[in-house]
Amino acid sequence: MRQKIVAGNWKMNTTADEGQKLTSEIVNMVQDEISADVQVILAPPFTHLQSVGKLIGSSKKIALAAQNVNENESGAYTGEVSAGMLQSVGVEWVIIGHSERREYFKESGEQLAKKINAALKGGLRPIFCCGEPLEVREKEEHEGHVKQQLQDSLFHLSKEQISKVVIAYEPVWAIGTGKTASAGQAQEMHKSIRRQIAEKWGEEVAGQLRILYGGSMKPDNAKELMDQPDVDGGLIGGASLKSRDFLQIIKSA
Ligand code: 13P
Repeated sequence: MRQKIVAGNWKMNTTADEGQKLTSEIVNMVQDEISADVQVILAPPFTHLQSVGKLIGSSKKIALAAQNVNENESGAYTGEVSAGMLQSVGVEWVIIGHSERREYFKESGEQLAKKINAALKGGLRPIFCCGEPLEVREKEEHEGHVKQQLQDSLFHLSKEQISKVVIAYEPVWAIGTGKTASAGQAQEMHKSIRRQIAEKWGEEVAGQLRILYGGSMKPDNAKELMDQPDVDGGLIGGASLKSRDFLQIIKSA
């Protein structure tokens, strides 16, 4: 059985105080109400990583993620943050390749491959995002699109390296739109991703890989999505900013 993961991507939301309040609520609720074996991950903005990390403390159930990392180790890259810096403040995971980074910050598949390398080298575990825009889905080219994203940014990794990666399938048309992929659409794509991984690295690696779904996951659709055999959890945007909703989603896992 693959351990489920429920990760909250706060994106560019919350002040430091709001982030601390939200974290405290989540920490308390998870402690009091979650007995199942679920890995919860919080990805606040960079500025909150240390304060959120302190509140998470030694909780085994909750881990800290960054939303981005630079591909270089150090140097003259004003405004950027390296894997080593993140690791030094207790970050364990990093989101790489989110569609917002691909679209607004023009991150290419090649650059994302470098970010994956930098994260792994710096001791971080990547949550690699993939997913197709609406026009690609409408042309029914979504499987090929995602396959290309995996090939561009992950296929250079060794077996050992890919085993540290979690993949998040986030159809762009479902992000922040309230439009969720149906459980059937999610399962179909997750199965296809797992098949790509199996073809490249073998059945054992594919069988252990966690594939999360992201895109308008909410308390009322989380269970159906996460009940699918190849859906191993969720990457949650909007609903992760409300502690009750986030907890409901964790419970669905
Ligand atoms: P929403 O849950 O707000 O649709 O965002 C999903 C997402 O982009 C998580 O990374």
